[in-house]
Amino acid sequence: MPALNELYQSIRSCRKCEISKARTNAVPGEGPGNAEIMFIGEAPGFHEDQKGRPFVGSAGQFLGQLLKSIDLSREQVYITNVIKTRPPGNRDPLPEEIVNCRPWLNHQLAIIKPKMIVTLGRFSMGLFMPGKTIGQVHGTAVKKDGVLYFAMYHPAAALHQGNLRGVIESDMLKIPGLLAGLKKENALIEAQKGREEEAQQLKLL
Ligand code: URA
Repeated sequence: MPALNELYQSIRSCRKCEISKARTNAVPGEGPGNAEIMFIGEAPGFHEDQKGRPFVGSAGQFLGQLLKSIDLSREQVYITNVIKTRPPGNRDPLPEEIVNCRPWLNHQLAIIKPKMIVTLGRFSMGLFMPGKTIGQVHGTAVKKDGVLYFAMYHPAAALHQGNLRGVIESDMLKIPGLLAGLKKENALIEAQKGREEEAQQLKLL
């Protein structure tokens, strides 16, 4: 997909943040240009920085298992992060780093146009559901402009807090039903629009 590849080149040469000096690789994201679901994590970690690919460390392994639990593979979904460069020592992304990186994510959204956006962790959730806490909204979805936003805990949270593992697993299992419901709803809206247009045309005859 040329548009995505061009975007990846621009991300790799971006030097807006100080942390770009210390990275091995930028981590733009990966997946099909027409993916229905986009997963957005927080920031690359050590392994992601080494490989230039998102979610390839232990959190990524768990994400792969979660995807498998809903009969999806990594190759079928788009995976990216709020920021595309590893923060030193895996510290939290700074507010200005999130702001600087936002246009790259906006570009990815504009190209891929996912039907469903799954936010992984509080930084990603904060972009789309500001003012909420992850404890309040995990496992729930909101629809905006025909796109479904679904919040989940970050998969790495299960590695630090074992009690969250089951919560993350059961939240993941909600995705197929939500996506199917969304498609049905959008199809009904489209059909209704079609009928209205037809009625309008008839009036003009
Ligand atoms: N954690 C993230 O948020 N993103 C990655 O790519 C890897 C770990």
